[in-house]
Amino acid sequence: ALVSLRQVLDHAAEYGYGVPAFNVNNMEQVQAIMEAAQATDSPVILQASAGARKYAGEAYLRHMVLAAIETHPDIPVVLHQDHGASPSQCQQSIRSGFSSVMMDGSLLEDAKTPAGYEYNVTVTRRVCEMAHPVGVSVEGELGCLGSLETGEAGEEDGVGAEGKLSHEQMLTDPMQAKDFVNQTGVDALAIAIGTSHGAYKFTRPPTGEILAIERISDIHAAIPDTHLVMHGSSSVPQEWLAIIRRYGGDIKETYGVPVEEIVRGIARGVRKVNIDTDIRLAMTGAMRQLFAQQPTEFDPRKALQAARHAAKDICRLRFEAFGCAGRA
Ligand code: G3H
Ligand code: 13P
Ligand code: NA
Ligand code: ZN
Repeated sequence: ALVSLRQVLDHAAEYGYGVPAFNVNNMEQVQAIMEAAQATDSPVILQASAGARKYAGEAYLRHMVLAAIETHPDIPVVLHQDHGASPSQCQQSIRSGFSSVMMDGSLLEDAKTPAGYEYNVTVTRRVCEMAHPVGVSVEGELGCLGSLETGEAGEEDGVGAEGKLSHEQMLTDPMQAKDFVNQTGVDALAIAIGTSHGAYKFTRPPTGEILAIERISDIHAAIPDTHLVMHGSSSVPQEWLAIIRRYGGDIKETYGVPVEEIVRGIARGVRKVNIDTDIRLAMTGAMRQLFAQQPTEFDPRKALQAARHAAKDICRLRFEAFGCAGRA
């Protein structure tokens, strides 16, 4: 059944686990996630970015999720809009049946200035006023997702803050988070603790200097009733990088957020864990391998089947590691 983000994350908070939120763009990704959830008895958060809507089209996305719910009637499913850029974009998603929307008011370049903060509060509050009366949950974002190694913002859905910021400027401030939640009424808050989007998060395995897991405790203590969201949470599996390289891919040395660090984050209060890149890497690795090993093959179903299988394995590992298995 389609449920709200609030419902799923309230349960996660009560029992102290985290829920992976996987980005979806096509049928094989939706199927992989649903099959992994069915196999592990886990609740599901499917999220669609603006890029996903552009790729698949609104009607295809909506009907793929309806098909998922019809095929797996016992699995609770949240359909969440990832990184909404404006209240009108969120309103469109609500009309199209999403049960949760993210208003990312931190996307503006001046988000770290007082005017940028006020803008973020204003647009996020407006989205809560539209969404809550119709039972739709809202995620906001405060802080700047980006690398503490370089001081550079990651790929904020293609838009983002340019230039360099200090560590303290990039990380979410607990007291500001409290003010933001009081003023907006968001159900969930994306926090900045040193993660960034995409495959190139860290040039070496992250230490406490560049991945501020401890800060989660302070933010959670300041806003205990708001569910914390960790974006940029792909682990960038070295095994998949090796397979991609072995079969002709060119991806330079890079590291993601280790699963054990995410688990420490969940113990400190993280409830929603956003993952896109890991599924991309697994699917690409599996497709490269299939076509390399079977050069006469030209049925795309063979490659997509291998990709779906690889994505399902990743999803199953995350459901299990985050304590989500058995919670559907
Ligand atoms: O937030 C970033 C997600 O990975 C979505 O990426 O904009 O390429 O769909 P996308
Ligand atoms: P990754 O790029 O680490 O998978 O993060 C995805 C994300 O945060 C989507 O909002
Ligand atoms: Na999101
Ligand atoms: Zn994100």
